Amino acid sequence: MAFLHNAWYVAALSTEVEDEALFHRKILGLSMLIYRRGDGTPVILRDRCPHRFVPLHMGKRIGDDVVCPYHALRFDCTGKCVHNPHGEGHIPRAAVVQSFPAVERHGFVWVWPGDADKADPARIPDYSLLDGGHPNSKGWAYMHMKANYEIIVDNIMDLSHVDHVHGPLLNTAGKLTPQIPRVIEDGNTVSVRWEWHQDPPMGFFSPFLPTPGTGAEHHVGVVWTAPSTMLLTVGAVQGSSNPDDGLLSWDHHLMTPETDTSTHYFFGSRRNWLVEDAELNRMKMDGTVAAFSTEDKPIIEAAQEEMGTTDLWSLKPVLLSGDPAPVRARRMLAQLIETEGAQRRA
Ligand code: FES
Ligand SMILES: [Fe+2]
Repeated sequence: MAFLHNAWYVAALSTEVEDEALFHRKILGLSMLIYRRGDGTPVILRDRCPHRFVPLHMGKRIGDDVVCPYHALRFDCTGKCVHNPHGEGHIPRAAVVQSFPAVERHGFVWVWPGDADKADPARIPDYSLLDGGHPNSKGWAYMHMKANYEIIVDNIMDLSHVDHVHGPLLNTAGKLTPQIPRVIEDGNTVSVRWEWHQDPPMGFFSPFLPTPGTGAEHHVGVVWTAPSTMLLTVGAVQGSSNPDDGLLSWDHHLMTPETDTSTHYFFGSRRNWLVEDAELNRMKMDGTVAAFSTEDKPIIEAAQEEMGTTDLWSLKPVLLSGDPAPVRARRMLAQLIETEGAQRRA
């Protein structure tokens, strides 16, 4: 499995890791145990006892320590064995569980699966839009996808599919397909943007515009940050040439590989209208996540199954006018993985 290891990935929604629980998830092919210290800060260890490799999440907690369920070796939150009830209690040198740098930010617990000494929290993309705003203006969600993470990135970086795949809530009425969107590379990011007039407006916005059901200017931009997180900003406006005067939704699509052919899809969203309306918030989150899981997911998973590989290029795909953004993101990531591999071999 070729992944970029020296990078931050979302390991869990903050809400998934409850205070006393031993949460677990496979990330980049590695089983990880995710839990909170007594003070709430997250801990991520390999979910594997070094004695007979039993998953530690099946064990129990004693304070900030974890006790293996099989023969009761006890490990602290750095992965060090602190108690061996067997024989004379000698602690073998190899009785260590791998630990991973962990940071909680923007409503997610992030993990760094690579070299711990390179884990700089400043390299977590700035998704602080999720930190501000009224609590009823935002929400978080998780979906599991049986597809390689780059195929899912392709889906967000080429939004021409919205014309064809999505129902009334998100549909863009054929307006994106004819466009040749501008793509900008900057540092470790690739950005792409579409603008169009739609009448009637997208179902997502229409009821909330000054004149519901009549034409509005629309825009959507996506910024991908290596290796696999994207901030999508979508909006509609009437009576102004400034998109920021209108309705805006900031949608964070954050992909974490589980294996080569499966992905943890994290989503965090905030809107700028009727920000205190809890019922609208629930409907918007449920509606969006339902669209992803009933409209995008079956198509993406079926494509993965049909491909039978994660090497897109070996299949010689046809390229269309919407492909430059996903292709540039793929190339940048491939280059980063190649560089990391070369450094590892050196
Ligand atoms: S498998 Fe964990 S102590 Fe034996
Ligand atoms: Fe979609």
